[in-house]
Amino acid sequence: MSADPSEPGVIRPGHVVLDQNGDVAQLHGIGILNWNGRFYAWGENKAAGSAFTGISCYSSGDLATWRYEGESLTRGEGELAPDRVVERPKVLHRAADGAFVMLLHIDSSDYADARLGVAIADTPVRPYRYLGSERPLGNLSRDIGVFVADDASGYLLSEDRDHGLQIYRLSDDYLSVESLVTSLLKPGATHGYESPTMVKHEGLYYLFGSDLTGWSLNDNVYATAPDLAGPWSPWRLLAPEGSHTFESQVSVVLPVETSHGRRFVYCGDRWQRDELFSSPAVWLPLRIGSGRARLEWVDEWTLADL
Ligand code: GAL
Repeated sequence: MSADPSEPGVIRPGHVVLDQNGDVAQLHGIGILNWNGRFYAWGENKAAGSAFTGISCYSSGDLATWRYEGESLTRGEGELAPDRVVERPKVLHRAADGAFVMLLHIDSSDYADARLGVAIADTPVRPYRYLGSERPLGNLSRDIGVFVADDASGYLLSEDRDHGLQIYRLSDDYLSVESLVTSLLKPGATHGYESPTMVKHEGLYYLFGSDLTGWSLNDNVYATAPDLAGPWSPWRLLAPEGSHTFESQVSVVLPVETSHGRRFVYCGDRWQRDELFSSPAVWLPLRIGSGRARLEWVDEWTLADL
């Protein structure tokens, strides 16, 4: 995953992301991967607030300058009807046949359905064919994240209000959930964390998530483990206490290969509940190493600063 444009553009945390037309990029609840040396990102198109409008796709060489590529998923019938909730698109590239598999949080407008949706395409952009949804091993599944291991095995991170933050092994084709690896709880609670994302660095897994406060922001946390099954460390804050993770909710921690090694970018949402469409992005360098992850505020930065 390398991206090394010669003159990377400036990223301004706390501002909306604009595309080449000057429109607000609909990269809310972002999922992102590096493909053929370019970042492809998918986000919730919030034109209709929390009701489903579409999953928008953008690409960039430097995380600062974005090209709108089109809608990867659009309104339809049934689970993609306009009164539905479709959130947190996360795309995995299936090396075996080059397909792109998109996993999604699929829900009813009252968030009672709590299902995992799946769509597939043979290009990163479109069109994705919606294949349907499941409740992983019968469990509730709302906010999700994905992780692909070095051996290409895929994992789903999923918030299950009844059992905690679940780590599941996906089937080899990434289209369904195969088995449960482990469940993690918030200390003293019967639930876990949401909006999960995970990276591996220097032999340790780093799992990130936020507390369950809806569109309100909170102090996000992370835990580490040498093995996905654990033992997992205690949860720790990744930003100063009380900063509400610099007023954001983690969506993805993105590994980026630089000339001096692997670095990480935190991509979070600063939700504006009354105008979700214009919610700013809070993207910051995230320092990870020796079992710790630390987010510090900078007003501006570029990929060359990583
Ligand atoms: C949050 C979740 C968001 C959205 C929101 C709706 O907890 O992270 O993706 O579902 O709730 O209230």
